[in-house]
Order: sequence, then structure tokens, then C-alpha cells
Amino acid sequence: MSGVTEHIVSGHRSLLLCNPAVDGVQAAWLEPQFWGERARPVAVGGRGGAFFVQADAGELVLRQYLRGGMMARIMHRSYLFTGFNRCRSLREFRLLQRLRDMHLPVPEPIAALAERDGLFTCRAAILLRRIPGAVPLPVSPAVGDPELWQRLGALLARFHAAGLDHVDLNCDNVLHAPEGIWLIDFDRCRLRHPAQRWQQANLDRLQRSVAKRCHALPAAQRRALWAALMQGYAAMKPDQERQ
Ligand SMILES: Nc1ncnc2c1ncn2[C@@H]1O[C@H](COP(=O)(O)OP(=O)(O)O)[C@@H](O)[C@H]1O
Ligand SMILES: [Mg+2]
Repeated sequence: MSGVTEHIVSGHRSLLLCNPAVDGVQAAWLEPQFWGERARPVAVGGRGGAFFVQADAGELVLRQYLRGGMMARIMHRSYLFTGFNRCRSLREFRLLQRLRDMHLPVPEPIAALAERDGLFTCRAAILLRRIPGAVPLPVSPAVGDPELWQRLGALLARFHAAGLDHVDLNCDNVLHAPEGIWLIDFDRCRLRHPAQRWQQANLDRLQRSVAKRCHALPAAQRRALWAALMQGYAAMKPDQERQ
């Protein structure tokens, strides 16, 4: 297991999880303002709460958990607090550690913060190591290469065999880097028993996202790329899954 240290900061109102491999982590690191010019918003692929940060510890990504829908206008960053253990940032931090322990290509978590900001509400943020040279799949120069899609299919099968239900598997949460393909953005994701048959929903969501985000590719090419992905997926599926 990776080592984790948990610090309680500001009495019982906040919880900060830190990766012991990085020195000096503090709650202020989870606020973009702390970094000033060293934080800049991610331009492609995000929903608006993510920043690239140039820290002394290296290149990081800071993500605040934002609300969507109607409630976003009233409470942009606040969530119902139902206990620290259920807080989204802390859960994502711990899930990333488990996935890394299984040698799956996901970002290294640096810190996660949950802060109570009202009687019943909290705010959350996570800090990750930035994957060097990574770009979202739709803007990768290799997006038209069937071999890349076949490798992605094989990778998805590995995540599924490990039990990872990625509830937001879209093209922008697949990053292509010189050292390979990575999955990101594990908010609300969880490990589940493979026999429960949730895997197809992940693939269906990704396929819808491909149609939307890779629309510059001709439809016939998109179909061929998807077939390559499914070929890679089927080839990697554990034997018992195929029966
Ligand atoms: N660890 C990382 N390394 C490199 N780029 C990242 C990393 N994490 C996020 N990004 C970039 O930031 C974007 C948004 O991050 P993501 O975690 O998907 O948050 P959200 O979709 O909620 O905004 C991604 O599409 C990607 O372009
Ligand atoms: Mg995302």
C-alpha cells in the first residue's frame, strides 16, 4: 500500500489528506489564489474548476469540485456535508491510491481537502501530479490511429477487470501522453464486483462522447476506430468474462 498521512487542520472543520512523498503540503495549496501567476486554468477538456500549477514540487493539477445544474447559481462550490469519509475529494484521493497500487495508469494524488463552510455544507478540492505531455484524446495528433484505439480498448479492459466503474468516461478523461494512455477524473467513481455488469454503460458513454468530441473525423473513420477499440477490449477481457 502507498503510505498516506491524514492531517486534521482548522480543528474539526477541515480534513487534509497528504501524499507523504511530497514535503510541506498545506491546505492553502488547494486554493488557486495561493499560487497566483503559477496557476492557470486548464484550457481544453475541463468543466472550469481545474488549474495547471507550477509548484516547487513539479507540475501539478488543482481541481475544485464544482456544482452543475440549477444549484450552481446559488452554491457554486458548496456541497451537502454528510461526513468526511463521504466527501468527494477524499474518496477520489483514496481511490487513486488504490488504482496506483494496482499499477493502473492514473495520476498520483498529492493532496485532498474537505472544508466545512456552513452548518450543513462543505467545499472540496484535490491536487494531482500533472502527467507530462498529456493531452485529451480528441486533440491528440494520433487520434486517427487505430492502433491507439486498440490500446485504449485493452486499457479499459484492464480497468474493468480491476473493478473500476468510471461513471464519467468521456474522451476528455482519456489522456494521451508520450509514455502512454492514462485515465483521469475519478469523481464519484468506485470499485465494483465485475460480475454486476456495469461495464457496458462505461463503454456506451465513451462512444457517445466520441461522436460529440471527435466529430471532425468522418463517421466511417469513427466507426473503424471504435471497432479497433472493441477489438482491443475483447482481446484483453479475462477468459471467465467471455463465457
Ligand atoms: N493529471 C493530469 N495531467 C495532465 N492533465 C490533466 C490532469 N488532470 C486533469 N488534466 C486536464 O484537465 C482537464 C480537466 O480535468 P478533469 O480531472 O477531467 O476535471 P473536470 O472534467 O471535472 O473539469 C482534463 O481534461 C485534462 O485536460
Ligand atoms: Mg473531466
